[in-house]
Amino acid sequence: MSGYEARFKVWRGDAGGGGLEDFKVEVNEGEVVLDIIHRLQATQAPDLAVRWNCKAGKCGSCSAEINGRPRLMCMTRMSVFDRDETITVTPLRAFPVIRDLVTDVGFNYQKAREIPAFVPPAGLGPGEYRMQQEDVDRPQEFRKCIECFLCQDTCHVVRDHEDNKQAFAGPRFLMRVAELDMHPLDAASDTGLDRSRTAQDEHGLGYCNITKCCTEVCPEGIKITDNALIPLKERAVDRKYDPLVWLGSKIRRRPSGG
Ligand code: SF4
Ligand code: SF4
Ligand code: FES
Repeated sequence: MSGYEARFKVWRGDAGGGGLEDFKVEVNEGEVVLDIIHRLQATQAPDLAVRWNCKAGKCGSCSAEINGRPRLMCMTRMSVFDRDETITVTPLRAFPVIRDLVTDVGFNYQKAREIPAFVPPAGLGPGEYRMQQEDVDRPQEFRKCIECFLCQDTCHVVRDHEDNKQAFAGPRFLMRVAELDMHPLDAASDTGLDRSRTAQDEHGLGYCNITKCCTEVCPEGIKITDNALIPLKERAVDRKYDPLVWLGSKIRRRPSGG
């Protein structure tokens, strides 16, 4: 593919307001949207604000909306667009704009802090934890999360309803609750904490109507809805209506070496 000139609309502005600005910019073979944004900075808009770090889909910082879809700019190849298509790049809509393509994602850090941490099992020291391989494999999928917050941005519960933010942790952090709830060595229940009930009562699991939009935008391909949110909902319901299930979940935790 030889180089060509693409038409871009890029949102410029700050918390006080802004709008789309038109640019024509050179595109070369193999480039991604972040390359084009960098070329814009280098040649036409030196004060354009954009956040990025790795350019390898691993740091999660270059999240933006490209033609209205939440995506990583560094993982979006220019070859997926028609050459005569105008490509629109806007900041994540669910979070407050700081400037241009940079948003304040502090909401997510606040939600992360609200989730009680792993509770180490009593009587076991570091290096003495033993788990079945299947118990390791299951949450391993969730550990691939790069905290790009694209799922948080796309979820309609907060995307269109700022008022819901206080009561709803969002898919990334409900997934974290699910991960801890699945952990066979987590001793939270010994302290009286029922993680799946807490997800329902304190982290807004009930707002999720399993539309799977979060799963669709996850650049790590994590099946957030099927593998984390639905099982978490099932456990929350089981324990609410059947105290024996709740008791069983405490007893089922495997002893070390199991
Ligand atoms: S599945 Fe639930 S968390 Fe995911 S986008 Fe839909 S409502 Fe939001
Ligand atoms: S779950 Fe996926 S979309 Fe959500 S923050 Fe993690 S990597 Fe990003
Ligand atoms: S720059 Fe790190 S994920 Fe895009």
